[in-house]
Amino acid sequence: MLSFDHSPRDTRPNEENLSLQARDKGDDMDGAQRPAFSDQREYLVDGQLRTWDGNRQEVLSPLRDRTAGAPDEPVVLGRYPLLGEAAALAALDAAVRAYDHGRGPWPTMPVEGRIAAVEKFAFLMRERRDEVVHLLMWEIGKTQPDSEKEFDRTLQYIRDTIDALKELDRASSRFTVAEGILGQVRRAPLGVALCMGPFNYPLNETFTTLIPALIMGNTVVFKPAKFGVLLLRPLLEAFRDAFPAGVVNTVYGEGRSIIPPLLASGRVDCLAFIGTARVADGLKKLHPEPHRLRSVLGLDAKNPAIVLADADLELALSECVLGALSFNGQRCTAIKIIFVHDSLYERFLSGLAARVDTLKRGNPWEPGVQITPLPERGKTEYLGELVADAVQRGARVVNPQGGRVEDRLFTPAVVAPVTADMRLWREEQFGPVVPVARFGDVAEPLDYIVSSNYGQQVSLFGRDPRAIGALIDPLVNQVSRVNLNSQCQRGPDLFPFTGRKDSAEGTLSVSDALRVFSIRALVAAKGTDANKALVTDIVRDHHSNWLSTDFLF
Ligand code: G3H
Repeated sequence: MLSFDHSPRDTRPNEENLSLQARDKGDDMDGAQRPAFSDQREYLVDGQLRTWDGNRQEVLSPLRDRTAGAPDEPVVLGRYPLLGEAAALAALDAAVRAYDHGRGPWPTMPVEGRIAAVEKFAFLMRERRDEVVHLLMWEIGKTQPDSEKEFDRTLQYIRDTIDALKELDRASSRFTVAEGILGQVRRAPLGVALCMGPFNYPLNETFTTLIPALIMGNTVVFKPAKFGVLLLRPLLEAFRDAFPAGVVNTVYGEGRSIIPPLLASGRVDCLAFIGTARVADGLKKLHPEPHRLRSVLGLDAKNPAIVLADADLELALSECVLGALSFNGQRCTAIKIIFVHDSLYERFLSGLAARVDTLKRGNPWEPGVQITPLPERGKTEYLGELVADAVQRGARVVNPQGGRVEDRLFTPAVVAPVTADMRLWREEQFGPVVPVARFGDVAEPLDYIVSSNYGQQVSLFGRDPRAIGALIDPLVNQVSRVNLNSQCQRGPDLFPFTGRKDSAEGTLSVSDALRVFSIRALVAAKGTDANKALVTDIVRDHHSNWLSTDFLF
């Protein structure tokens, strides 16, 4: 039984209407049509959409409106609230109250109740697919297929999370007896979680922390990424209607002014942040009692690809293009430097340059488009500086089109040979520049990885089982995923996603995330007759939500 209302229009979701296939595949949406101006004043706090009367941030699209008669100027998509410190702290207050030191209805609710709320949210979310996908394209320039994929993958993640929690709960719904002590072990929430996702996956990566944090019984304050903010507006009502008051709260505004006071208050128990290690370190240090703060961090990366002498050239090329340039290289998992053996170097380089120059550039909704305008202001200039630095130090732009800038669109540049004195050697470009280095001895890329501050993933291209096998053993101790003849990537979401050194803290996957946002707790008793009778009564008469042998089907 849930302790909050379901309004009559909200049909209880079930397996069938949670299906991604059933409807709303976005076929009716005209991506080229600019979205309606989103004049957002509301933000969600304590179960209410509050109205913000203060300053707001204008949202400019990286895209231009190309429909007939439209002015050739940046499209203003809308505005969102720029909360101040007091409003942000009020959102945190609401989350703290709803958690109520673990006594609130949400953290003490049976797992079944929390699953029902998340199912309801997923059901309501799916109804807003078109709007969210449309805004993904216009706010961050993600292609239509990738925007649709981001939405659908997020819904799938929610469904997988529900299944994983059921499985976890089933395994916990029994007693253990050891050394004469009987006990039941389950996972309990941590408290208040602050969740912040990145602009490249403003929906998916925000929700891959938000949903597990919620379903484990934490209350949440979440802040949208720096771009991809308006696309969360259609979901505010779904959050309000699916969860009890105060369980989900939003803060909007300048991260540097509203987030530090939240951490400094000492009332955030869990920080889920995807961004740079520099910002994450700064935030963690603000907590007055850092040992109380659980951090779940997805941070910087500079994943290398190593193309060995016996690599399948065509395969290596197609995986490297995909790995380096999907969503314009704006993925933490992107291949950000490619080491190629001397014997293949010239062929690889010319093949890469030819492939890169055939990638279709344009707007996200145009069929076959792979390279789109970049959302960050000043990004094309920054990428130009990286390329110029490399060229000044002896590299060249290999593909004829490379580095051309048209408004926010940067034509991918293949830069080679990149050497240790160049910025591109270490700096995470997070954009469409593909640095290529050459090596004679595989110890050279291995030394690069060992001396790197990053430790997320690597891609190895080669065919000799002995050589690949010998590389796997040291590499798994340097990075968290070794990809064989495949690009680097996060998914499938059932696999652990993490990193070493400056690349991550904590592990995310569907099942790992449930663990990371919770702590094991147990109820134990000496196995006396009186205790056995007591526990039996509690369980039989359902006096506790925690101490229970109910089996979740
Ligand atoms: O930006 C980092 C993302 O976690 C990458 O995910 O490999 O599925 O694109 P992806």
